[in-house]
Amino acid sequence: MLSSKQPNAGTAAAVAVPTLSVERAAHGAPSYALKLAQIGCGGRGTGATVQALNTSNSVHLAALADVDQSQLDKTLNILKKQKPDQTSVPKERQFVGFDAYKKAIEAADVVILATPPGFRPMMFEEAVRQGKHVFMEKPVAVDAPGVRKIIAAAREAKKKNIKTAVGMQRRHQPSYEELIKRIHDGDIGDIHTMRAYWLGNSRDGKERLPGETEMEYQIRNWYYFTWLSGDHIVEQHIHNIDVVTWAKNAYPVAAIGQGGRQVRKAKRHCQIFDHHWVEFEYADHSRMFSECRQIRGCFPEVAEYVHGTKGVASVPPSQKVFSITGPKAWTKRLKKRENGHQLEHYPFFNAIQENKPYHEAEYGALSTMVAIMGRMATYSGKRVTWEQAFNSNLTQMPGHVDYDVMPKVLPDEDGWYPVAKPGDTVAW
Ligand SMILES: NC(=O)c1ccc[n+]([C@@H]2O[C@H](COP(=O)([O-])OP(=O)(O)OC[C@H]3O[C@@H](n4cnc5c(N)ncnc54)[C@H](O)[C@@H]3O)[C@@H](O)[C@H]2O)c1
Repeated sequence: MLSSKQPNAGTAAAVAVPTLSVERAAHGAPSYALKLAQIGCGGRGTGATVQALNTSNSVHLAALADVDQSQLDKTLNILKKQKPDQTSVPKERQFVGFDAYKKAIEAADVVILATPPGFRPMMFEEAVRQGKHVFMEKPVAVDAPGVRKIIAAAREAKKKNIKTAVGMQRRHQPSYEELIKRIHDGDIGDIHTMRAYWLGNSRDGKERLPGETEMEYQIRNWYYFTWLSGDHIVEQHIHNIDVVTWAKNAYPVAAIGQGGRQVRKAKRHCQIFDHHWVEFEYADHSRMFSECRQIRGCFPEVAEYVHGTKGVASVPPSQKVFSITGPKAWTKRLKKRENGHQLEHYPFFNAIQENKPYHEAEYGALSTMVAIMGRMATYSGKRVTWEQAFNSNLTQMPGHVDYDVMPKVLPDEDGWYPVAKPGDTVAW
């Protein structure tokens, strides 16, 4: 049987990967082909498709969907070169437009959802409605209504025996798994403090092109609009927030925070902050401190630390030394960082082929909710409780999206978009 942990974890993408068909043939069980659809033809979606195809020769790319033909063409060219024997996407299965996702879902057994996350809830809901297995990138939503939609569809997926995976790849790195197991086994005692960091940078904003509609511009520059990306505390820092949430195995009861824009001052930076700092409070009075910053030239750190009554568990930025201090001290040194983006696909496809339960959507939604709650605290400058955050009905997603539809968020007459102002902004 294909293991959920491939032997050479750090180089999984580079090594010869046993195929499900070979493995299953050895056990006398038939293998069956799986048709894959990629929805959202950007960098991560295309990477995820290659990684999904790496799991087995019996997985084939059958359909692509995007709102932008040129993005779809780019992805198709990459995949034809990298995976020629597993890529079969004729014109009639290349779908472009805002309803392209529905048609791509129809053409597949398994779908990869890798559009900007604002669209994730409606696409996940549709995939579950059509009974298809889903790998979806993180974050799985950008607001509380989206989180609730994902949770409802995730529960439906469980009933329908649909497998769901979420691209929080650290959950499939063996060293993280071992560290978290040790925490859960009590090796650091009771957790009283957690620290989560993504201090670095990201893609720059995009200038408006002549003749573009407002919707075209916002979708092309999606990272800089909260209704599409969730802001970087949700879009990027979710990874670290998810790790400490996994370690703590609990959700915060309240949060306070602060954030703003020190360097994002151009029109192309539309709406999002460049730094957020949040203190999350738990029912047992423990705290999680979360920091994310996207400012060049500052101290970089992408890491997680969990402090307990008997020791500290650390994953430093390199992700090559995992350690625990205290009476149950433990250190694991890796020569090479584990390739979580590849590793996360093996157990998912294995579960599909073996028809075993596989349900990541709900924890993906709840970790996403923690990050959204953090943004609510930094945007509003107020203390927000889990109840307020989770039950919020605030959304900036238009009821219907198309290139000629006006988004809800619009620039003023000088071209400046609304930016949250702590103290004034209503964030939930
Ligand atoms: N797990 C990770 O480490 C990781 C890393 C990078 C990105 N991501 C996530 O992957 C997702 C995609 O990020 P990316 O970097 O590939 O972005 P990208 O901008 O490169 O690609 C997004 C694609 O989606 C298309 N698109 C936009 N709206 C669409 C719609 N309504 N229907 C169909 N297609 C649509 C765009 O045209 C574009 O081709 C995001 O959620 C991001 O947070 C995860």
